[in-house]
Amino acid sequence: MMQWQQQTCLLTGATGGIGQAIAQALANKGVRLILQGRSESRLQALSQSLNGEHKILMADITTIEGREKICFAAESNAISMLINNAGVGQFSLLEDTDEASIVDTLETNLLAPILLTQAVLPYLQKHHISATTPSYLVNVGSAFGSIGFAGQSVYCASKFGLRGFTEALYRELADTNVHVSYFAPRATATSINSDQAMAMNNALGNHVDSPENVAQALIQQLEKGHARQFVGFPETLFVKINGAFPHIVDKALFKKLPIIKRFLRPEKDVKHTAQEVLS
Ligand SMILES: NC(=O)c1ccc[n+]([C@@H]2O[C@H](COP(=O)([O-])OP(=O)(O)OC[C@H]3O[C@@H](n4cnc5c(N)ncnc54)[C@H](OP(=O)(O)O)[C@@H]3O)[C@@H](O)[C@H]2O)c1
Repeated sequence: MMQWQQQTCLLTGATGGIGQAIAQALANKGVRLILQGRSESRLQALSQSLNGEHKILMADITTIEGREKICFAAESNAISMLINNAGVGQFSLLEDTDEASIVDTLETNLLAPILLTQAVLPYLQKHHISATTPSYLVNVGSAFGSIGFAGQSVYCASKFGLRGFTEALYRELADTNVHVSYFAPRATATSINSDQAMAMNNALGNHVDSPENVAQALIQQLEKGHARQFVGFPETLFVKINGAFPHIVDKALFKKLPIIKRFLRPEKDVKHTAQEVLS
């Protein structure tokens, strides 16, 4: 049974679309929050909108100074939960993606959560509530951490990496009091998705969740103690099929490639028809 009111949670990316919804849902459960982001005004506005008393923390997770600030906050507030939620998106063909954005995507979505987890782990191990109650580490991945998707190769690489890291750590810490979990939303209506990406989702008929529904799925995952949670059907099924029979998903996504490329390179006439791609 989850003892929400005894939890102190450090939430990264709290000012984002999913972060704000998670903050709201946790605050409503009585969790004390340390809300991390990069904009003081947005953090303050968020904090004031929530039930209860919370702290804000301005830090960039990709810098050593930023991670040290987070680590200090984790120790001094005796956190019992870390949610690595901060992330950046990528919607571009690899050949059109500059080096700086490749590095930023991998640093923000993969390297920083790994380094933060390593730095904060001793405090999670120390500050669990009781001998029978674990502390919690949640890494926010994506459906694209299990399904490679054209136009998001670097984002997929970062989230596949995060999923592997989380699974290995879940198994590594199975005999400790830290419960590790991986939470994978599908497309969600937040500003991480550019207008082009949202238009593509629309054209492909992809489901787009509200951040509030995503936050409720995370609450349920924590209550049930599941190590992995993929949000939404049929994406949950696609994840399983892609794991077992990737060639089936290859074919389904090849058919969508002309549509995907239309949104990635709107100025260019994409000449390949679905038939050409499949042949
Ligand atoms: N929305 C989706 O379709 C979707 C689907 C699957 C998974 N996800 C995952 O869900 C998580 C949250 O995404 P979202 O949709 O809520 O995105 P969002 O609205 O763009 O929010 C991203 C959050 O991450 C923070 N952030 C980015 N870079 C940072 C850095 N270097 N240091 C500190 N904070 C940083 C942002 O802070 P600032 O306000 O300071 O920029 C913001 O709070 C991400 O991990 C994302 O990959 C999203």
